[in-house]
Amino acid sequence: MATSEKQLEELALKQYGEKSVYSRGLENVIIKYTALTFIDGNKGILKYRGIPIEEIASKGTYEELIYLFLYGKLPNREELNKLKDTLNSNYEVPKEVLDAIYMMPKDSDPIALLELSTAVLAGLEKDFKWSKDTDKQRAIEIIPKMAAMVANVYRHKEGKSPKIPSPSDSYARSFLEACFDRKVTDEEANVMDKALVLYADHEVPASTTAGLVVVSTLSDMYSGIVGALAALKGPLHGGAAEAAFRQFLEIGSPDRVEEWFNEKIIKGKNRLMGFGHRVYKVYDPRAKIFKSLAESLTQKNPDARKYYEIAKKLEELGINQFGSKGIYPNTDFYSGIVYYALGFPVYMYTALFALSRTLGWLAHFIEYVDEQHRLIRPRAVYVGPENASWIPMDQRS
Ligand code: SDX
Repeated sequence: MATSEKQLEELALKQYGEKSVYSRGLENVIIKYTALTFIDGNKGILKYRGIPIEEIASKGTYEELIYLFLYGKLPNREELNKLKDTLNSNYEVPKEVLDAIYMMPKDSDPIALLELSTAVLAGLEKDFKWSKDTDKQRAIEIIPKMAAMVANVYRHKEGKSPKIPSPSDSYARSFLEACFDRKVTDEEANVMDKALVLYADHEVPASTTAGLVVVSTLSDMYSGIVGALAALKGPLHGGAAEAAFRQFLEIGSPDRVEEWFNEKIIKGKNRLMGFGHRVYKVYDPRAKIFKSLAESLTQKNPDARKYYEIAKKLEELGINQFGSKGIYPNTDFYSGIVYYALGFPVYMYTALFALSRTLGWLAHFIEYVDEQHRLIRPRAVYVGPENASWIPMDQRS
C-alpha cells in the first residue's frame, strides 16, 4: 500500500481534523519542551543549559555536567564534592546484575547485555515511585551503576572476572580503571571525561524519545533506560559509532580510501556511517571536538594514527560527495578513534555512548515526568478497507 506523504497528510486532516499532524519519522514534531539542550542544526550550534558545547568540553567535567543537567546550575565546590561522594558510594550493583551479565555467552551483543542488566535493576526495584523530591538523587545513584554495568560487559566479553569501579577523583578514571585493571594516566582520564561530556545529551533523538514513551506511562527510570538502550543499538543511531570505525578497519590503509569509497558508497550506494544527521545539516560541532581529540591522542600512537589518517581522507571524499545535500560528519565519525586510542575494542563504542547518554536520558525523563507529564499516545492514519464483513471459512479464497 504505497501511499504518498501528501496523501497521508490529507487523510490525517480528514480523519482527525486540523490538530492532526502526519510527519514521517516524526521529523520536526515537538514532543516536549526542554531547558537542557539547544541545537541549531543549520548553524551547527549545541548548548547544554545555554553553555556552548565547546566551552563545557574544554573547561568542564562530566560530574559538573551531571549537576548542571539535574539541578540547573553549575555546582559550587561543596556541591561538587558531595556529588562525587554520591557517585563514589554507588558503583556497587546487586549480585543478580553481575550474574545476568556473566551467565550470557561472551559473544553476546554488548547493548543487549546492558538492556538485560538494567532490566534486572528494574526487576529488583519493588515499589518505584516518581517523586520530585527524590528523582534527581535517584538519577545520580543510577549513573555510577551504569558505569559498573558497562565495565562488566567489557570485562565479561574480554574473559575477565567481575569488578566494581573503585572510588577515585573522577567518574571517568573509576570507570577506565575498572575496565583495564591498571592505573590510568591523567590524560586518559581527561580524554574519557571529554568523551562523556560530548555524548551526554542531544535533546530528543530516537533513544531519548523511546525512553520518554516508556516513562510517560509512569513506568520506572530503569525501564526507561532499557527502552532507550534498545533504540540506541540500531546502526542509524548509536550503533553508528561502531559502524563508522568498522569502515576504517575495512579500508585498512589511507591509500585504499578512494577505491573503497567509490566501490562501497558511490557504486554500492551504501550509507557512509558517521555521516549525516536528522537535525545537523552542517558539520556536527561534537565531531569537530572528537576530531581534535583524535588528532592529539594519536600523535604518539601509530596504530590509531593510521585510522585517523583514513578517517580524514574519508571525510574529505564524503563532504565532496554529500556536503551539498547537508550531509556532514556527525559525532560518531571520529569518536571511535578516540576510544580505540584509549584501548577499547570496536564492539564497545555504542556501549560507551550509552554510558555517557544515561545522564541525558535521565535528565529528560525527570524534566518530562516532573514538569510536563502526559501519556505519550500518538495516532496512525487509517488506510485500510472502509467497510468489510466477516467471511465464513467455506467462502474464503
Ligand atoms: C546519532 O538524533 C540525534 O541527535 C542522534 C545523535 C545523538 O547524539 O543522539 O546525534 C547520534 O545517532 C548520529 C547519527 C548516526 N547515524 C549514522 O551515522 C548513520 C548514517 N546516517 C544516516 O543513516 C542518516 O544520515 C540519519 C539516519 C542519521 C538521518 O537520516 P534522515 O534524516 O532520516 O534522512 P534520510 O535517511 O531520509 O536520508 C535523506 C537522504 C537520502 O537520500 P535520497 O533517498 O533522498 O536520495 O540523504 C541520504 C539518504 O540516502 N543520506 C545519506 C546518508 N545520510 C542520509 N547518504 C549516504 N550516506 C549517509 N550517511
